Amino acid sequence: MTTKPRVYVACNFPQEVLDLFINRFNASYNDTGRVLTTDELIAHALGMDAIVLTAPDRLDAAAVQRLPASVKVVCTYSVGTDHIDLDALQARGITVFSTPDVLDESCADAAWLLMLGAARRVIEGIDLVRNGTWQGWSPRQLIGREVWGSRLGILGMGRIGRAIAKRARGFDMAVHYHNRNRLGPELEAGAQYHSSLKSLAEHSDFLCIACPASPSTRGLVNKEILECLPADAVVCNISRGDIVRDEDLILALKTGTVAAAGLDVFAGEPDIHPEYRQLPNVFGLPHIGSSTMRTRLAMGELLCSGLDSYFSGS
Ligand code: DGY
Repeated sequence: MTTKPRVYVACNFPQEVLDLFINRFNASYNDTGRVLTTDELIAHALGMDAIVLTAPDRLDAAAVQRLPASVKVVCTYSVGTDHIDLDALQARGITVFSTPDVLDESCADAAWLLMLGAARRVIEGIDLVRNGTWQGWSPRQLIGREVWGSRLGILGMGRIGRAIAKRARGFDMAVHYHNRNRLGPELEAGAQYHSSLKSLAEHSDFLCIACPASPSTRGLVNKEILECLPADAVVCNISRGDIVRDEDLILALKTGTVAAAGLDVFAGEPDIHPEYRQLPNVFGLPHIGSSTMRTRLAMGELLCSGLDSYFSGS
């Protein structure tokens, strides 16, 4: 290509990330501050060589059919690809780039934030300090769960799962995992494999969900699994909300089957199940797992390099 590829960025990135696209491509972007409707996205894609989406932008099979013929590449600024129909894109011969690898460490940091925040009752503590209702130190106050020395169960031992496991060594935790396939000894790094999720749950004082979302993982963490957890267990989710059955987790949190949850992701974001907002034992964050500037830049750089090599034919 002699002229710069035309790229439409469907969201408003931080300026430094936007500049990566603007400096390399003939780039325009969505500055409305909201997620575009499918009609708007299709209209903006007209005449573009590539479009860049994020997790809230849904591109189902019907939307893929409507993409203009000029679009040769769809980028998603995410490691998860559950919001786009990969089969439909492949059938149309459209290349897809996503952002694996570069966000593993920031997401693993966030998983630990969830575990610690939920276990140590951070929301209730912050409320006491901010509301002025704190009565002073008390040995009965906000007694939480010990993270150090507990058993960590990781559902999905991909790169993010392994980055979470790496950090567990500093907390002297025994790491257990369940994955579609057992890892080799080097990647397993001493973690104990469970061929079933039920067995993993039985060994998890902390159950951390880090597997990709797909039709086969939807609703995987349900009543049956939650009931296998030991007493006082904590459930964390750094992946996608619909892997958990909300009604089942909420009931378990209310009845004490599960002591606390640390959730960075929710089904139907941002319209989350209203009961999550009420429960004192839910430490909820607004899907910020990869949200550090270093990671944001690395994600942008990765997509730009993919686009560069695609359009230069290298
Ligand atoms: C990801 O990269 O999948 C994050 O969850 C943001 O969408």
